[in-house]
Amino acid sequence: MSKLYITGRKRLGGGVRLQGAKNSALPLLAATVLARGESVLYNCPLLSDTEASLRILRWLGCKAQRSDGTVLVKNDGITRHDIPDALMRQTRGSIMFLGAVLARQGRARLSLPGGCAIGQRPIDLHLKALRRLGAVIKERRGILDCRAPHGLRGADITLPFPSVGATEDIILAACTASGVTTVTNAAREPEISDLADYLNRCGARIRGAGESVIVIDGVRELHGCAHAVIPDRIVAATLIACAAVTGSAITLKGVIHSHLAAVLPVFEDAGCVFAARENELKITAPERLRSMRIVRTMPYPGFPTDAQAPLLAAAAVADGTTVLIENIFENRYRHAAELARMGADVKTEGKFAVVEGVPRLYGAAVEAADLRGAAALVAAGLCAEGKTELGGVRYLDRGYESFEQVLSALGADVKRV
Ligand code: UD1
Repeated sequence: MSKLYITGRKRLGGGVRLQGAKNSALPLLAATVLARGESVLYNCPLLSDTEASLRILRWLGCKAQRSDGTVLVKNDGITRHDIPDALMRQTRGSIMFLGAVLARQGRARLSLPGGCAIGQRPIDLHLKALRRLGAVIKERRGILDCRAPHGLRGADITLPFPSVGATEDIILAACTASGVTTVTNAAREPEISDLADYLNRCGARIRGAGESVIVIDGVRELHGCAHAVIPDRIVAATLIACAAVTGSAITLKGVIHSHLAAVLPVFEDAGCVFAARENELKITAPERLRSMRIVRTMPYPGFPTDAQAPLLAAAAVADGTTVLIENIFENRYRHAAELARMGADVKTEGKFAVVEGVPRLYGAAVEAADLRGAAALVAAGLCAEGKTELGGVRYLDRGYESFEQVLSALGADVKRV
């Protein structure tokens, strides 16, 4: 079990290129099941989650190889419709294979997905939508047996909540269904648009991705294509938090500015200054952050739930009181108790966190319990006095590519042991 050892209070500087977005790469890898021939994904981050998706692709009968950031998937027809529990559990993104395999094979048999324990994370919206598309789904003891022997057919689907995963699963299932599918109250996250861009390049006909109503005209077949994964806006938000807590100036490269529109004003509120140039973003942080106005996590284009944990680490050392409201997941403050071990003053109750900023955090032995919570503890360790020993690094590795190397290149003292 590796650990990260962070010696805090080093000023960061210089520039770093953003990795590709995990939450885009996972549905994109599942989507390659639908596309005959070769698909090339550039800027595909090397993460335990993406490697788990590659293992699923190989199990299904595709050839999947990685060379640095480029993944090549050769799909000459998948040979299976089942995915073993041990593979499903390795990542939350495995649930995207449900829509893709069902559409491709007319059948899918798999268990419930893994992923971080940040709430109940049911998949009822996925299943309800797939049933609307004509799937017959039996659930027994955590195993889903889904059939569409006569193929899926387009339908009007209204989501009660703009679920990212459900929207992606519907798109994957619907793009080769017969007829037209309309998704109302669809998720609008950039990762949805990235998935639609790839599929459209493969021959799909998807309109409105990135908006609340998505219309999918079913086509007979898809063919592989080359596609570059969008930059990871959550890694960008995390690095901004790392610069913010250490009073540093750093430059992020390969940024899509519009994806950060809800994040930057919150850090500006805390006294950070941003300079945007083409696809670069320079952040200059003050010596001491100020507390922020109430921050509410919301579906995109609101403030992302995935950036809440790193932001909380910043609020922990800001001057004044910050209130956070987590509206997306029920159990997403587990980092708060660990931050308290480092001297943070955070009270949580249900969806609320009240953070009384302290002038300084102190290094301690802390344990991450989920991906973004791990990132928050890294940010805290960077500004803490003394040494932080972070356990649960496997969570960090789900979403941050060689994070200790990225931070070391910026001047931090972070070692993996
Ligand atoms: C995705 C992201 C995750 C991010 C989240 C919200 C991936 C691999 N993960 O997760 O990093 O935090 O979007 O931006 O892309 N819900 C239901 N029933 C369902 C589906 C969802 O009740 O069938 C609820 C969830 O429990 C949660 C909320 O809807 O409370 C949002 O979930 P969703 O948008 O689906 O998130 P994920 O796709 O799991």
